[in-house]
Amino acid sequence: MSDLLIKNALLRGKKKNDILIQKGMIVDIQQKIDNIDIPIIDADNHFVCPPFVDSHFHLDATLSYGIPRVNQSGTLLEGIKLWGELKPHLTIDALKKRALNLCHWAIARGTLAIRTHVDISDPTLLAVEAMLDIKKEVKDWIDLQLVAFPQDGLLRANSVENLVRALDMGVDIVGGIPHFERTMTDGTESITTLCEIASARSLMIDMHCDESDDPMSRHIETLCKETIRLGLKGQVAGSHLTSMHSMDNYYVSKLLPLMNEAEISVIANPLINITLQGRHDTYPKRRGMTRVPEQISAGLNVSFGHDCVMDPWYPLGSHDMLDVAHMALHVAQMTGQRQMEQCFDAITYNPAKTLQLQKYGVQKGCKGDLVVLQCRDPIEAIRLRPVRLYVIKRGKIISSTKPVSYDLNLSGKNFETDLIFRNQ
Ligand code: FE2
Repeated sequence: MSDLLIKNALLRGKKKNDILIQKGMIVDIQQKIDNIDIPIIDADNHFVCPPFVDSHFHLDATLSYGIPRVNQSGTLLEGIKLWGELKPHLTIDALKKRALNLCHWAIARGTLAIRTHVDISDPTLLAVEAMLDIKKEVKDWIDLQLVAFPQDGLLRANSVENLVRALDMGVDIVGGIPHFERTMTDGTESITTLCEIASARSLMIDMHCDESDDPMSRHIETLCKETIRLGLKGQVAGSHLTSMHSMDNYYVSKLLPLMNEAEISVIANPLINITLQGRHDTYPKRRGMTRVPEQISAGLNVSFGHDCVMDPWYPLGSHDMLDVAHMALHVAQMTGQRQMEQCFDAITYNPAKTLQLQKYGVQKGCKGDLVVLQCRDPIEAIRLRPVRLYVIKRGKIISSTKPVSYDLNLSGKNFETDLIFRNQ
């Protein structure tokens, strides 16, 4: 809980303002606030926004790329098999070391809230224990939400007892993977069981749902129905929903209003969806990301998650949410001005709503959690993925990076904006 005065901050709409944070909270935003005897930084007409929020990640698997081997086919199913081969070799220390490393990467890139799915399939619940420790360890920097995730299938791997134990240990949210159960019927049964567990405990739900190219994978329909039946509206997220990409248009025109009625939050994972989906296609190859622009138009709250960084499913990544928005914009062809802004919202305000973060934003009364980017607005942020000049948590600077610029002086004109390059 610190005090900080940020001078010359460009807010959304290119309005220049000073921001006063006292005792960790934003207490004033005005065109000019007189200097007082507290730490002061000059944002120097750079864009200031709330921190990025990653609504879908796997912190227990991260940074394990190549252990014990790499994914040859690049498919989701080989990734799950490979994770199964890695699990017997996991130790709490190794899990924590890799997760903490990833959290440091996230902080440096301005992400201060992460919802991570934790595999509960192994009865030792080693990963749960490790991630609960990490949650405590990073609590002053990152809001970490844990989802009890039955990676090997709730019914397929007989994981109900493990999942309940994980919740008893302090895991926050109920997860699921209905499309990976043995049959569609088992998938339906798993959703009902999981929603009833969440309802009894008043917990949020976030399921991996229909992560498939199969247009008949329609578990989202059951998830909506159970959400409405159990009075869980606004508490449930559907992650991935990639089968919607391949569904018949008529069916989708019936499904979107149902998702709206159930107030389902959508979480797309563009980097991973574009990589894993369409692997059984020849040409044309499907992109496989869920129908983001249509979901936004239907009034749904849509977020983008990073999902993976260097693990059995994805060999790349640096945990930069601007990479995620950049990929989403391309895959969904969201190149309109308003659409590009919507992509920025999908890594900030929308996931903050899904995670139910309190006092999030750049307004008086919000927490003093902010990022100063070396750019001027959300669209430029996605285009350049620029240096995070300052990352601020409750008024305290927890990460800073020097600005980068290259004056190539190509034709004597001022190329200032175009020559601000991404810090590698
Ligand atoms: Fe995932």
